[in-house]
Amino acid sequence: MISLTLFIILLCFLFYSGHGLVSISVTPIIVSKSGDPVTIHWTGIDSPSQLDWLGIYSPSNSSHHNFIGYIFLSTSAGWESGSGSVSLPIVNIRSKYQFRIFHWTESEVDPTRMDSDHNPLPGTKHLLVESKEIGFSPGRGPEQVHLALTGREGEMRVMFVTHDGKENSVRFGLNRNKMGQIVGTRVSRYEREDMCDSPANESIGWRDPGYIHDGVMINLKKAKTYYYQVGSDSGGWSDIFSYISPNLDSDETIAFMLGDMGTATPYKTFARTQDESTSTIKWIKRDIESIGNKPTLISHVGDISYARGYSWLWDNFFTQIEPIASRVPYHVCIGNHEYDWPMQPWKPDWSSLSYKKDGGGECGVPYSVRFNMPGNSSEPTGTRAPATRNLYYSFDMGVVHFVYLSTETIFLPGSKQYEFLKHDLESVDRKKTPFVVVQGHRPMYTTGCRNRDVELRERLVEHLEPLLVKNKVSLVLWGHYHKYERFCGISNFTCGEEFPVHVVIGMAGQDSQPAWDTRVDHPDDQVFPQPEQSLYRSAEFGYTRLVASREKLRLFYVGNHDGEVHDAVEIRAPVYKLFHSCHPSVQPTICFQLQRIRHCPPFPPPPPPPSSDHDDDVEIDPRYGVDKRLVPSGPNPLHN
Ligand SMILES: [Fe+2]
Repeated sequence: MISLTLFIILLCFLFYSGHGLVSISVTPIIVSKSGDPVTIHWTGIDSPSQLDWLGIYSPSNSSHHNFIGYIFLSTSAGWESGSGSVSLPIVNIRSKYQFRIFHWTESEVDPTRMDSDHNPLPGTKHLLVESKEIGFSPGRGPEQVHLALTGREGEMRVMFVTHDGKENSVRFGLNRNKMGQIVGTRVSRYEREDMCDSPANESIGWRDPGYIHDGVMINLKKAKTYYYQVGSDSGGWSDIFSYISPNLDSDETIAFMLGDMGTATPYKTFARTQDESTSTIKWIKRDIESIGNKPTLISHVGDISYARGYSWLWDNFFTQIEPIASRVPYHVCIGNHEYDWPMQPWKPDWSSLSYKKDGGGECGVPYSVRFNMPGNSSEPTGTRAPATRNLYYSFDMGVVHFVYLSTETIFLPGSKQYEFLKHDLESVDRKKTPFVVVQGHRPMYTTGCRNRDVELRERLVEHLEPLLVKNKVSLVLWGHYHKYERFCGISNFTCGEEFPVHVVIGMAGQDSQPAWDTRVDHPDDQVFPQPEQSLYRSAEFGYTRLVASREKLRLFYVGNHDGEVHDAVEIRAPVYKLFHSCHPSVQPTICFQLQRIRHCPPFPPPPPPPSSDHDDDVEIDPRYGVDKRLVPSGPNPLHN
């Protein structure tokens, strides 16, 4: 009997160990560039299960539980034969990769081990085979290149990542073949001990983030095409990128505004990732190319990578945005998924429903080190970690004064942020920048069905909204709700043409969220009435495009499903109020409306912009002519 048991155990070992029975190969073994694909091929699996899986590991010596992602072998055609292959791009996280195949069956699913998306974490009991190590070719230079404005004339900041932190430079110039100007970079990094909670400070989530370089290209001429390259002779140089230098005095401003985008991975991991982010980036890249040689800007109003403590997702995010962020300055607000954690320094008693553990223990550290936004706002973390930065700041770009706020740190009267906002809004020169656009993460207004932020919204309305109204802010953009929703010009829930227009733009990628609010007296029925303050709302993924001249600012909502405009709002510059006021007795400071639903007689045509001699609709892109896509508006027009 004992001999029979030993025989069965030996048989199981031979089957499940896989060494000698199952084979795996990976090509190429050396990957040239981050994001390039590898192909994994396997053969020899007897009695394959639909749950057999391929684990992706980096560093290559990670324990079985600490994969960065996994793919079921059953996604490969013909997997029932015990052979198959998958191809997937891999991102350079500065350590070697290894692939391992495990046998796993439904009877072994452990309902107590779920990922954040409620998928059971795959079992690692039966390793069948493991691959050789896969690495990246050395000497290819830095990666994850992204730009930002400094807020100063004639400058452009560039940040990037290296594996060793050695001295790197930025060389740049107007001639691609002669980038004669050169500046050095400041280097920083963060450590596992800087993270405040799990999974960010545990083996399952932590990976070495590399060294983050920060250089500023200076003495730039206005609105010129600059070429640049980052790196060093010893470590290699990056590809040559280009951007249009800022022109702070321009009579036109173009920007792409979005929230809650995240990053897409070609594998499942511990947290849900955002497949739709690829579409958002694809369409913005199209738009940047169609704009041509005009400066522009990308603004991401929080919930940026959704790494939530899984370090490699930051690498994935910066690799994914590099095609646009290396060409256009990329600006950010802090969101709950960058910061939120139980011991955050500011956590008033009314916020217990708002502030929880959404940051995955990052407590704002990767956000604060990987980006460097204008200004010097910072709040202590209360730990050994560097201060939380990039909280509130502003800059002018053409005809718009852009303001960025933090809804994650203190904003009440008396706080540094409140005083910043008050002083900043009161100091805007509206002759220079007739439009003011304020951005933050958690919205002041939404009809999204999510009650946890009710008390926070009440504080935003009570304390910050009076500053926005008093200082005649043109447009307020928020994220956090993964939908597009445009409100009327609004103050304390009352519509008025003189009030700031609020728009929620958190629809760029993240896709988990409850529906709209139901009726108060029928909370269990799936009917979602649209309040009259909400003029247009949609759960379609997408982003917004802002185009402003001295006369008007227009915000377009582009849907990812077709890349076309599905909503638009137009806000007139305060200087035109006397020409366009509907009611002479009331002199609104800002008159906004959609063209097809007019609350007043048609406006007289505005005088042509001083620097433009072409039709307004052509100035964005003739392919997306505005007229036919403007949508009806008004009280409850759509009920979607
Ligand atoms: Fe959020």
